[in-house]
Amino acid sequence: METVGILGTGRMAVRIADLLVQGGHEVWLGSRDPARAQRIAQGLSEGRVRGVTYAQAMQAPFVLPAIFVRDGLLELIGEHADALAGKIVLDILNPFNADYSDFVLPWTTSAGEELAKRLPESRVVGIFKNIFWEAFDEPRFPQGVSDVYVTGDDTQAKEAAMALFQEAPFRFVDAGGQRNARVVERMTLFAAELGSRNGYMPRVGWRFLGEPWEPGVKDRYAHLIRR
Ligand SMILES: NC(=O)c1ccc[n+]([C@@H]2O[C@H](COP(=O)([O-])OP(=O)(O)OC[C@H]3O[C@@H](n4cnc5c(N)ncnc54)[C@H](OP(=O)(O)O)[C@@H]3O)[C@@H](O)[C@H]2O)c1
Repeated sequence: METVGILGTGRMAVRIADLLVQGGHEVWLGSRDPARAQRIAQGLSEGRVRGVTYAQAMQAPFVLPAIFVRDGLLELIGEHADALAGKIVLDILNPFNADYSDFVLPWTTSAGEELAKRLPESRVVGIFKNIFWEAFDEPRFPQGVSDVYVTGDDTQAKEAAMALFQEAPFRFVDAGGQRNARVVERMTLFAAELGSRNGYMPRVGWRFLGEPWEPGVKDRYAHLIRR
């Protein structure tokens, strides 16, 4: 059983808190308004979720900020870098603007990298960036369960993060280093655009396809293009 401090009480916070509780973990749900967090905690699970302040939630060994970059998350986190030193910080951030048409950060970085810059002593793991809120309510799509792309430079921290959610009905995929957060975040922006165009939002996901293969062994056209 682990303890995870979640910052924020919005769409993602409640769902991830519920997933953690179902996996046997404890959640300290942090809010600017702890009375609101306590009310939500009681609605989720009496006993396993506690409504607290942001500062109290940041005392947990795992901390998951569920606040938008556009609402000042990076500034808030920067003020608490010392409190978060040594902890595993679960980064679910996508730097969407207010109308979700684009990001508030340039292409040359990601919310994950900006978070890591402000937390040089923390172990940042990108997770759940590509899962939209109501996809948690029923994770099985007609095409299968969605992948969750997990990024980070600290392999043990990534494994610890995935272990927290081993009961969760998603396919967790090790998606490489911290820098790939910018890829996953852009995939999420693209999914939002495609999803909106097709009337799917927010029930969209990603699934990586592939199978073991040896290039050339079954290449049907190699003989035609050989020189
Ligand atoms: N929604 C999604 O589908 C989705 C998917 C993947 C990743 N994410 C990421 O998850 C994070 C949270 O997204 P969300 O959709 O759960 O957000 P949300 O429903 O808007 O909730 C965000 C929470 O942020 C807190 N907050 C702190 N300062 C705030 C401010 N100035 N204005 C408004 N709220 C403030 C609030 O909690 P208190 O009032 O309790 O302090 C609020 O409940 C974002 O970084 C987003 O990129 C979202």
